[in-house]
Amino acid sequence: MAKQSKVAVVGSANVDLITFNDTFPRPGETIFGKKFDLGFGGKGANQAVAARRCGASVSMVAKVGSDLFGPATVTNFESLGIDASHVRIAEGISTGVAPIFVDPSGQNRIIVIKGANETLSPADVDAAAPVLSQADTILLQFEIPLATVYHTIHFAKSHGIRCIVNPAPALPLDFKEVATADYFVPNESEAEAITGIPVHTIDDAKKCADHLLTQGLSRVVITLGERGSLLATSAGQELIPAFKVAPIDSTGAGDAFIGSFAVFLAEGLKDMEALTRASLYAALSTTRVGTQKSFPNREEFDKEWRGRGIMNCEF
Ligand code: RIB
Repeated sequence: MAKQSKVAVVGSANVDLITFNDTFPRPGETIFGKKFDLGFGGKGANQAVAARRCGASVSMVAKVGSDLFGPATVTNFESLGIDASHVRIAEGISTGVAPIFVDPSGQNRIIVIKGANETLSPADVDAAAPVLSQADTILLQFEIPLATVYHTIHFAKSHGIRCIVNPAPALPLDFKEVATADYFVPNESEAEAITGIPVHTIDDAKKCADHLLTQGLSRVVITLGERGSLLATSAGQELIPAFKVAPIDSTGAGDAFIGSFAVFLAEGLKDMEALTRASLYAALSTTRVGTQKSFPNREEFDKEWRGRGIMNCEF
């Protein structure tokens, strides 16, 4: 039995308003949609939930608003067994929300209104230091102020805690501030936006990953959707193939990948095996509707992993 990992997330919590439809309106047009789903989301919260569903002990550091969604978000964390003692309510501001549009292929388009996430400050991170210092892994994304992200990376480094940075959504960043993170995990569009190198093919992704390494990062993982993911280090690059599933909603798949990757690593797996498992975990999440509620629990994941006959692969 693997040791229980301790994951902390300093990040966003949103409420997702997901519309499923075949087409989307043009300016001035009103159309009917097919289906709607309301659920808890936010890249930070999603990664926390994925890690928790994979069996980790998880703490969340976040800010929510003083509206209907804020207390409900805290209750959601608590009901999943996530420590929400550092999820604070910011008065007079809305909780982060994300209108999401999903097409028939399961692809999504997301608009994030950051709301209270924008008020998560370095001081909030310092206030959570007693909780954060217990973690073996800290996860970060870019839906909170970059100053808070940088501050947390320094905190992780100075406490010897593994730090995984998911630069999502992509923003212009200071590489000097993120270079000490252990893993930098953009998807293809984020990698392209951050480097200016177009990423259409696997060769493009390799060039882009090389460029990111030259900025001082030690391990880069570019996720490539149905083409898998690419791990790049100074020792070379390896492609992790994707698993075949029938996707219906890819919302949160990247977060499922990162949250589960953190757990598999903390349980002692090497990069390639942890990434391969995370790839299956993310693929499975696309076969169900919704964000956090599409994430399989550990039992479901282990069963699927065993069923695919990859238990004894050499990594
Ligand atoms: O990665 C998916 C997430 O992006 C959604 O849950 C939405 O809230 C946005 O943060």
